[in-house]
Amino acid sequence: MYKLIAFDAYGTLFDVYSMGQLAEELFPGYGQAFALMWRDRQIEYTRLVTMSDPNPKGSKYYLPFWELTIRSLRYVCKRMELNLTAEYEQRLMDQYAKLTSFKDSLAVLKKIKDKGISTAILSNGSREMLATVVESNGLKPYLDEVVTIEDVRLFKTDPQAYGLLLKSFPVKKEEILFVSSNAWDALAARWYGFDVFWVNRLGHPFEEIGEKPNYEGNSLSKVLEVV
Ligand code: LAC
Repeated sequence: MYKLIAFDAYGTLFDVYSMGQLAEELFPGYGQAFALMWRDRQIEYTRLVTMSDPNPKGSKYYLPFWELTIRSLRYVCKRMELNLTAEYEQRLMDQYAKLTSFKDSLAVLKKIKDKGISTAILSNGSREMLATVVESNGLKPYLDEVVTIEDVRLFKTDPQAYGLLLKSFPVKKEEILFVSSNAWDALAARWYGFDVFWVNRLGHPFEEIGEKPNYEGNSLSKVLEVV
């Protein structure tokens, strides 16, 4: 019986790939490729700063996720030879700040809370950007805590990032179910020792290394079948 269900934020509760639609409007013909490369580069930057100095006091290369998101946006536009004007950058980042949640995010959180189980976000996102996106989607009343790696300045998949959940809630590792749509995040959380639900909306294969997640489903709602 799980006492805490902890969700990844970007891609899991909030639809990052919707950025592709605005990108397509700004850069016709490049939207999808652009959105994918942006996301990959953003995550790559989190790994670079963490692995290059995995100091328990925080990486000296740490930059907030919001900043890494802007830097990766600039990189991808240069790489794809797209003209990122100040206005386009502002529009893309404004939309990123207020990403919409998936249509079942709110209902799933509410139903879990109704069962008397705690809910949380554990995200690479910076505190301010998480507060904005949680608020703008009306999720705040259904989350006991929004845990950010900003407290350790080491991004997931550093074990200390996952460990923040144990510091924030009086629960044991095995009482936590971690939910992510990012296969790399699901894999690392399993390595850390959590039970994991992988939300596989696009029917992708799981990674070729690591243990398979305990559960897999094609929508967030499927989580309700295991709690
Ligand atoms: C998160 C991103 C990485 O931690 O999905 O919310």
